[in-house]
Amino acid sequence: MRILITGANRGLGLALSQVGAERGHHILAGVRGLEKSKEILTQSEINKSITLLPLDVIKEESVSLAARSVKENFGTIDAIINNAGILLERDKQIEDLDIDQVKVSFDVNLFGPMRVVKHFLPLLLMGDKSSIINISSEAGSITNAYDGDYAYAASKTALNMFSQQLSQYVKGNNVNVYSIHPGWIKTDMGGDRAPGDPIDTANGIFDIIERKQVIESKNVFISYNGQPMPL
Ligand SMILES: NC(=O)c1ccc[n+]([C@@H]2O[C@H](COP(=O)([O-])OP(=O)(O)OC[C@H]3O[C@@H](n4cnc5c(N)ncnc54)[C@H](OP(=O)(O)O)[C@@H]3O)[C@@H](O)[C@H]2O)c1
Repeated sequence: MRILITGANRGLGLALSQVGAERGHHILAGVRGLEKSKEILTQSEINKSITLLPLDVIKEESVSLAARSVKENFGTIDAIINNAGILLERDKQIEDLDIDQVKVSFDVNLFGPMRVVKHFLPLLLMGDKSSIINISSEAGSITNAYDGDYAYAASKTALNMFSQQLSQYVKGNNVNVYSIHPGWIKTDMGGDRAPGDPIDTANGIFDIIERKQVIESKNVFISYNGQPMPL
């Protein structure tokens, strides 16, 4: 399969790129800047099934250019993993919240996946048994809401809504759409105390993309091991 991954230069995106390439997929590794992408650059030099793709999800021109370049060079794709995300204004209470930072959070975590799907969906619909995976978070669960991470949590709740709407739109095209909680994992965002290994999460996500994992959840919000998450 040919798989687009955003934010592929570090953290979960890097793990997804490594695991995907090891499983024999062709990875289109979306990165914002080559200077920040040493690890994925090295991976792509060793592993010819990783192709670097300049892609900044907050810039629509960047997303549309990337889609055009993929169409010209490869034709179709089989999966999109909207992984790029940011966690701003962590633990700030509402009285201190910088609303501009809330806007930036929505720009990356919600509008980013929307821009990517807008421009890449035509390439995905040409494939068979395709998937759109939006990397969400348990922070986006309304049922389990907590009083913090306002910008991040609300952007992930909205991302879950977008995923649910999208699943309605593409049903009939054999496209699976999921919003996936990756677990609390050791990355720059998750920190050193996180118990999870991004490689385990990446393997779970590829089992879902490869349709090896049976999903029984009625809604699109699930964990990386296929279990339903509370909306
Ligand atoms: N870590 C956790 O415990 C955890 C828990 C729940 C959910 N998540 C979700 O998992 C996903 C991956 O998180 P992570 O832990 O791997 O975070 P991370 O280590 O902070 O990496 C974030 C990635 O997103 C990229 N990114 C940020 N803004 C971007 C933009 N405008 N365009 C393109 N790429 C951009 C970053 O690229 P640069 O290097 O260029 O900044 C980086 O590759 C996120 O959606 C996050 O919300 C993580």
